[in-house]
Amino acid sequence: MTTLVTGIGELATLDDTLDRADHGEGLGLLHDAAVVVGDMDEILWVGRAAAAPEADHRRDVAGRAVIPAFVDSHTHLVFAGDRSGEFAARMTGTAYDGGGIATTVAATREASDDELRALLGGRLAEMRRQGSNVIEIKSGYGLSVEGEERAMRLAREVTDEVTFLGGHVVPTEFASRRGEYVDLVTGPMLVAAREHARWIDVFCEPRSAHAFTVDESRTILEAGRAAGLGLRVHGNQLGPGPGVRLAVELGAASVDHCTHLTVADVEALSAAAGTTVATLLPGVEFATRSRYPDARALVDAGVSIALATDCNPGTCFSSSMPFVIALAVREMRLTPAEALRAATVGAAASLRRDDIGIIRTGARPGLTLLDAPSQAHLAYRPGVPLARLLDLDSVGLDSVGPDAATSAPRPPGPGPEPVT
Ligand code: NIG
Ligand code: FE
Repeated sequence: MTTLVTGIGELATLDDTLDRADHGEGLGLLHDAAVVVGDMDEILWVGRAAAAPEADHRRDVAGRAVIPAFVDSHTHLVFAGDRSGEFAARMTGTAYDGGGIATTVAATREASDDELRALLGGRLAEMRRQGSNVIEIKSGYGLSVEGEERAMRLAREVTDEVTFLGGHVVPTEFASRRGEYVDLVTGPMLVAAREHARWIDVFCEPRSAHAFTVDESRTILEAGRAAGLGLRVHGNQLGPGPGVRLAVELGAASVDHCTHLTVADVEALSAAAGTTVATLLPGVEFATRSRYPDARALVDAGVSIALATDCNPGTCFSSSMPFVIALAVREMRLTPAEALRAATVGAAASLRRDDIGIIRTGARPGLTLLDAPSQAHLAYRPGVPLARLLDLDSVGLDSVGPDAATSAPRPPGPGPEPVT
């Protein structure tokens, strides 16, 4: 089955090779565009509506803007329990140090597989309703061989991008035996990870008593690499530290947070721009009341950047890529176009993928509709539910806008501004 999506007011393809597109801001923009999509999300054709081929079905999106679905390249969605109290305490001055992770570990160990599966499914549905499609999911709240194996297995049921994060924190039962815990992570836990995960990650943060030193982090990452996993790092979140340079030295695909960067860190990231992506997580600075990193300076220095939510119960319980984009523009000095790039092709690059985050023939990004005339409204209208993943299986109410040919009821949320 093929579907012709038509009536697209502004199409941001993110394809910088697309013929006759506007490449001014690096978004590969087309107006009055159409896209033909196949059964498995694959893009079969992109171009001007007037030249569109026939397809089995037709969906008119009534002048809305369309973008590739967001790629959320950093999340921790497999968990149970609630830490809203910790958030409230932080808002009145308590600093984040990773100690609260133990609370989530205890609640997650108590939960059944079905409870965790239901929580995970609910969070994914929430993300799709906000325009995300491909989601990376980390383990890290089991911290035992069975607990980590279970988290990765459940994550693998819903995504190809599974990350083994046994090196999240040292669990309390190992607090006085850190070396033994690192042996567990690099031994039997890693054996389980090989079955389910594509990536290994570590919380490299010598400032936290709970997280890992640079030597421990190196041991964990090198073992993961030897087991065939790609590398990701949580680095430089709580203060300047060794995480960014360790990630660059080991050729990691991504170093995430990058909240506190020195000049030497920026130089290292710039030199590694073809290999290591700096993934910025502004929802974390928001929810931990931390300073924001200067994304403008990173882009100007030639660093490859991505944006992701880091959706987790401790440092950012938001599933919203539009919220992250708005923060990146307002607080980190990206342009709306740069933020959209970072949330799509940039995040795809951090997963070493070129088949998502871009609308071009052969890719499988999923399409995200905006109830707005242009992508710039994502940052311009923060907090407004403009974005949602286009579900080609559902009976669409998309042909409901100022230009709609039908008189079907309006969908929830605001329609686009008139397209002139
Ligand atoms: O990415 N920094 C380490 N891990 C998560 C937070 C986990 C938690 O507090 O539950 C993060 O911020
Ligand atoms: Fe994280």
